[in-house]
Formats: sequence, structure tokens, C-alpha cells
Amino acid sequence: MNTTQNNTAQILTGTPLAGRVAVVTGASSGIGEATALRFAQLGASVALIARRGERLDALEDRIRAAGGTALAIPTDVTDRAAVLRAAERIEQELGQVDLVFANAGVQLIAGITDLAVDDWDTQLSTNVGGVMNTVQAFVRPLEAAAAAGRPADLITTSSIAAVRILEGFQVYSATKAYVTQLSKLLRTELGRKKVRVATIEPGMVDTELPDHVTDPAASKLMADLITQIDVLQSADVAETVAFMAAVPKHVNLTEITILPTEQSI
Ligand SMILES: NC(=O)c1ccc[n+]([C@@H]2O[C@H](COP(=O)([O-])OP(=O)(O)OC[C@H]3O[C@@H](n4cnc5c(N)ncnc54)[C@H](OP(=O)(O)O)[C@@H]3O)[C@@H](O)[C@H]2O)c1
Repeated sequence: MNTTQNNTAQILTGTPLAGRVAVVTGASSGIGEATALRFAQLGASVALIARRGERLDALEDRIRAAGGTALAIPTDVTDRAAVLRAAERIEQELGQVDLVFANAGVQLIAGITDLAVDDWDTQLSTNVGGVMNTVQAFVRPLEAAAAAGRPADLITTSSIAAVRILEGFQVYSATKAYVTQLSKLLRTELGRKKVRVATIEPGMVDTELPDHVTDPAASKLMADLITQIDVLQSADVAETVAFMAAVPKHVNLTEITILPTEQSI
């Protein structure tokens, strides 16, 4: 493929992901979109998962126009049966999955006494339930790929919020702490089967994430924070995730924290 991304150094060269069959959840925007694109540029076939089908179709077209392989499958990761159906289609059309980026997530910050219970449920069902549905659908192909001697990766998107104490982030941070801890625990079983499990913990990245916050004051707070410092771009995170998948298969970069240089919390 021959496409370029703005705002970031592309450190990897060539096609180190050639032959890999990747799945990216949350591929319709932000970090997931940039990572799916980068995986394809580096040689992987990429299945694109999120709810907004038109965004996925546009990315699929962009990847194919540049000579890559992509398959858009509009899917809600909170729907376990739908994720399983997507996995079957990916296996049929792209082959056995060996690289999973479980990245779909929502951040709906609010004070706990606001009792924004619908937002609690959405974060739990997406950030925790969606990751578990993704694990359920793809752990067997990952295990099989590793058993066949191929690299096999399960990379999750956690957050620096998993380990920081921030008011308003109670539920979001707890879901991300779950994701970080899950990755450590999965390694106890999957590591010896040669499946790499890793997580990336980004700080502030300029994406749509704040736009979905239902509390306008909280949304503004997050959007303002993003304008105050030179924050990360999605492509910065994408390059790092691609690097995690591209290193030799006996090397596991288990937890990477990636912050804007100026971010102190
Ligand atoms: N931006 C940051 O500062 C930051 C920092 C640390 C961690 N993160 C994490 O990075 C990940 C990606 O977020 P982002 O910053 O790139 O924000 P984003 O642009 O809002 O992307 C979120 C992605 O998740 C997808 N998604 C949400 N709910 C879904 C569902 N039920 N089913 C399928 N897909 C769903 C969205 O697609 P649809 O709406 O089309 O379904 C979208 O593609 C999230 O896990 C987030 O918590 C972000």
C-alpha cells in the first residue's frame, strides 16, 4: 500500500505484517481507524469492526484503493452473537485471525452522585463486555495461529486512566483498570501457548472520544484539555500498536504507556 498519514513519524518500514490477518474493533474513528490503516499499510489483511457502517466502508475503500485488503463488518461489540457472526465471516473471507486489536470503547465521564446510570451501563457493556465478546470470538483462532508457529497477538486499549485517580472518571477508569488487569491475567494462560497479550495505555489523544460525553460540562472540560497541550494523534498510537505486533514473536511488549510529553496527570 502507498498511503501516508499526517502528524506522526512513520518509523516502521516495509511490510512486517504481511500475511497477518487482523481484526480492529472501534475502526470507524480515532485510534482504531488509524491503526487499521497502518496495519494494512504494513501488509496485514484487516477486518474493520464498529457500528457506523458508512465510516467502515469509507476506510475499506481507502485501504483497497491503496492496494491493501480490508473487510468492513458493521458490528456492535456489546452484541455477543453479532461478534461471533463477524468472526465467522472474517475466517471465511480473510482467513484465520492472528492479530486482534480490541480497542472499541467509550468514555462517559460524570460525577458519581449524578447517577448517570445509563452511561455506567454503556461503559461497562462496551469497555468490559465488548472486550470479553471480542476475546470469546477470537481466542481460539489466536491459539491455533500460535500453535501453527505463527505470531498471534491480542492487544487491548486500556488508558492511563486505569492507573490515575481522576474525579469524574470513576466508572471509566474502573473499566480500563479491568482491561489492564485482564491482559495480565490472560498472559498466565495464553503466554505459554505463545499468544502475546498486551495492552496500550494512552494519555490524551485527539479523537472524537469527548464528543460522546452526555454531560456538556464534562465534554467541554475534556475538549478544552485537548487544546491546552500538544496531545497525541491517533497515528502516534497506531504506530506504537503496529510496532507491538511487528516485533519478533518471542518478544512481548506487555504494557505500553504513551503520553503527550506535556501531560503530567
Ligand atoms: N482519546 C483518548 O484520549 C484516549 C485515551 C486513552 C484511551 N482511549 C481509548 O481508546 C479507544 C479508542 O477511542 P478513541 O479515542 O479512538 O475514540 P473514538 O474516536 O470515539 O473511537 C471509539 C471507537 O469505538 C467504537 N465503538 C464504541 N462503542 C462501540 C460498540 N458498542 N460497538 C462497536 N464499536 C464501538 C466507535 O465506533 P462506532 O461509534 O462507529 O461504533 C469508535 O470507532 C477507547 O477504548 C478509549 O477508551 C482513548
